[in-house]
Amino acid sequence: MFGGNGGSTSTVRGKRSFSIRNFLFGIRTHGHHGDGELDEDQTRLPADLRPVVISIMNQKGGCGKTTTAVNLSAALAEKGYRVLVIDMDPQAHASLGFGISLEPFRRSVYDLLTDPNTSFGDVMHATAIPRLDLLPASIQLSSAQLELANMSRGEITLKRVLAPAQKAYDFVFIDCPPTLNLLTLNALAYATKVLIPVQAQYYAMDGMKELFRTIEAVKNRFNPDLEILGILPSLFDKRISISTEILAALREHFTSSMFKTVINTNVKLIEAPMAQQPIISYAPHSAASTEFNRLAEEVVNLVTKEN
Ligand SMILES: Nc1ncnc2c1ncn2[C@@H]1O[C@H](COP(=O)(O)OP(=O)(O)OP(=O)(O)O)[C@@H](O)[C@H]1O
Ligand SMILES: [Mg+2]
Repeated sequence: MFGGNGGSTSTVRGKRSFSIRNFLFGIRTHGHHGDGELDEDQTRLPADLRPVVISIMNQKGGCGKTTTAVNLSAALAEKGYRVLVIDMDPQAHASLGFGISLEPFRRSVYDLLTDPNTSFGDVMHATAIPRLDLLPASIQLSSAQLELANMSRGEITLKRVLAPAQKAYDFVFIDCPPTLNLLTLNALAYATKVLIPVQAQYYAMDGMKELFRTIEAVKNRFNPDLEILGILPSLFDKRISISTEILAALREHFTSSMFKTVINTNVKLIEAPMAQQPIISYAPHSAASTEFNRLAEEVVNLVTKEN
């Protein structure tokens, strides 16, 4: 689609996405008619805003980064936006969440970052959700660090390789690993916004100072446009009374930087990745699906408000 020589890739893509798409969306009626890519009245962000690049990060493990990347991107795609998810985590959980394991495909974000002969089109993979594309991760990404460190301006590699293709998208989400390394640095150097999922736990603030220092350093050194889009209360469990107190404290401290939407703990969000689907298709009527739709609306309002 964006150059490259991915003849075999497009065959696989076409076949796979067509059948899964039919399976997921063919029998329900919620406004999509057939192939979403052919819709002419689809929702788009204004051209001068495209794409809004959002890094989802927090070096704290298991706080909901991947769950947010998969489900927020799917909710926006369902609303009509064109969305790209970049899986920058060698664990490849976001890729798996969309049902894309790397076996049938030769190349991943790793190749895009380290091999000048690999193009965006060689790596990009259409998911079963119309308008939602993925750059899958692979375990090799864990060694990309070393290679990036040896490149001149290695920290802007992601930005450089995405430049030719990015205008096709309204939103680009980057699912970051739970570390502050060269992969996260690449994500921050490319993004214009950071979304930080935080679990309302006693240790929620652990590492937040370091995270903000990193964001500030990236902003000063190579990305003056970088700003925090919002802090998202995730894995919220209202049955634990201390959670409510911690959420109130977070709201008091971070004021308007906090998202209004709260993502509650929900067993459907544990089941959905096992079914290799986002929540909007796995359990469209669940509370979690409603929450991610609300979050999507909040994100659209935030990015269109000031511009
Ligand atoms: N709202 C939720 N309710 C229930 N389970 C959740 C919720 N959000 C995430 N989980 C589960 O918690 C675990 C961690 O979530 P997730 O993978 O999204 O976190 P992460 O920050 O991406 O983790 P890592 O730091 O390892 O990348 C997963 O098993 C996920 O299914
Ligand atoms: Mg993750």
